[in-house]
Amino acid sequence: TVSAVAARHILDSRGYPTVAVRLTLGDGTTVDASAPAGASTGEFEAVELRDGGDAFSGRGVHKAVASVTGELAEVLTSRPWATLHDLDAAMIDLDGTENLARLGANAVVAVSIAATRAFAHVAGTSVHAWLSRLTGSAERLPVPHFNVLNGGAHAANPLDFQEFMVAPVGAASEDEAVRMGAEIYHALAARVKQSFGTAGLGDEGGFAPDLANPHEALDLLVAAIGDTGLTAAVDQVAIAIDPAANGFSQGEGRYRIDGTVLDRGQLVEYYERLLDAYPLRSVEDGFAEDDYEGWRLMFDATCHRVQLVGDDLYVTDARRIEEGALRGWSNAVLIKPNQIGTVTGTLDAIAVARERNMRCMVSHRSGETTDDFIADLAVGTGVGQIKSGAPARGERVAKYNRLTEIEADCPGIPYGLTEGTAR
Ligand code: PGA
Ligand code: ZN
Repeated sequence: TVSAVAARHILDSRGYPTVAVRLTLGDGTTVDASAPAGASTGEFEAVELRDGGDAFSGRGVHKAVASVTGELAEVLTSRPWATLHDLDAAMIDLDGTENLARLGANAVVAVSIAATRAFAHVAGTSVHAWLSRLTGSAERLPVPHFNVLNGGAHAANPLDFQEFMVAPVGAASEDEAVRMGAEIYHALAARVKQSFGTAGLGDEGGFAPDLANPHEALDLLVAAIGDTGLTAAVDQVAIAIDPAANGFSQGEGRYRIDGTVLDRGQLVEYYERLLDAYPLRSVEDGFAEDDYEGWRLMFDATCHRVQLVGDDLYVTDARRIEEGALRGWSNAVLIKPNQIGTVTGTLDAIAVARERNMRCMVSHRSGETTDDFIADLAVGTGVGQIKSGAPARGERVAKYNRLTEIEADCPGIPYGLTEGTAR
C-alpha cells in the first residue's frame, strides 16, 4: 500500500523543469522516479502538461506536480493495488483523454515508474528481475548505443542527421562495452579538437562540430574507432544512426539533406549508399513519422541488411506498432516509456513487437534526469539493445552505470544482442 505521495519539480539535463515523484509505502520505504522530456518529439506522443506563462519559457510543471499530489495521490492511496496493470489502467481512466493531456504524461509516467519500483520492493526483488518475471522474459544485458556525434534538433551545427552512435556488439560484457564506448568517445574528442579546434556538445553529450554532412560524420567516427585499436564492423563496433527525418522533411515525401532536396526513392538510395560504405547496423526514423509510403519503400529495399527502427513513427504505442507490422513499415521499434505514459503501455508495446518479430531498443530522451529505470527495463525485458546518449554526463552515465551494476550484482545474465539481430 501507498501511504503518502509527494511530488515536486526538478531540473532536467537541459535546465527545464520536470516532475519528480516520491511514494511512501506501508513499511515506511520510499521509492522515487522522475520524468524525462524529448525535444524532437513525435506528433502522436502522450502529452506533457506544461504551465505556460513566463516562468521557464512556459515549460513549468506546477500543474503536472499538482496532478500527482492531487488526483493521482487520491487514486494511489485509495486502496491496495494488486497489479501494476490495474493501477496504470486506473490512471488512464482518471485522465479521460486519448493522450494523457489532462493530468499530463509527465505526471503519470513518473508515478508509474515509482509504482513499478514499489511492486519490486514489495516482492523483495530488483526492478529488472521483477519486470523479467512479470513479462516472462529472459534477462539480457543490452548492447549500449553511445550517441557520440550530435546534430539535428539536438545541436546547433549544420548536420541534418540527429544521432551517430557506436555499438560495441562484439564486446564480451557490459563492462567491456562501456569501456570501448568511453575510449572511442575520447579518441573522437582528440580528433574533433584537431580538426575543429573546439566543438560544442549536443543535448545527449555527443560532440557537435561543424560537420557538413553524414558522410563526414561517419568518416570521423570510423577513424576514431580505428584510433582505439578496435574494429569498425557490424559484428565488432557497429554504427547506428538516428537521422530523425521529421527534422529535415519538407513534407509530401521530400527531404532536404546537405542543401539538396531528395524524393523518397532518392532518399532510399542515399541510405543504401551509406549502408554500402559504412558498418551500419541500425537506421532509426529514416523517414518522417507520417510518410508511410517512404517507410514502405525503405523496408522493401533494405530490411534484409539493416535494422530499421521506428521512433516518432510508433511513439511506443502498441496499436501503431501492430499497424506497422501489418503494413511493413519497419523491422524494429524504439521503446520510450514517456511516449506512451505508463510502464504497462511500454510493456504492451514490447509484447506486440515481439509477437510480430520486430526487435526493440530501449531509449532515454534528449532531456533526462539521473533516473536509471530504463536500464532495468532493458535488462528485465531482455531486448538486447539500449541507447542513452554519450558515455559522459551524469544523466547519461546513470543508465550505463546501472547496467554495469546489474552485471556485477547478477553474474550469469548474458550480454549482447538477441539471436538473429546482428544487424
Ligand atoms: P528526443 O530525441 O528525446 O529529443 O525526442 C530522441 C530520439 O529521437 O531518439
Ligand atoms: Zn529517434
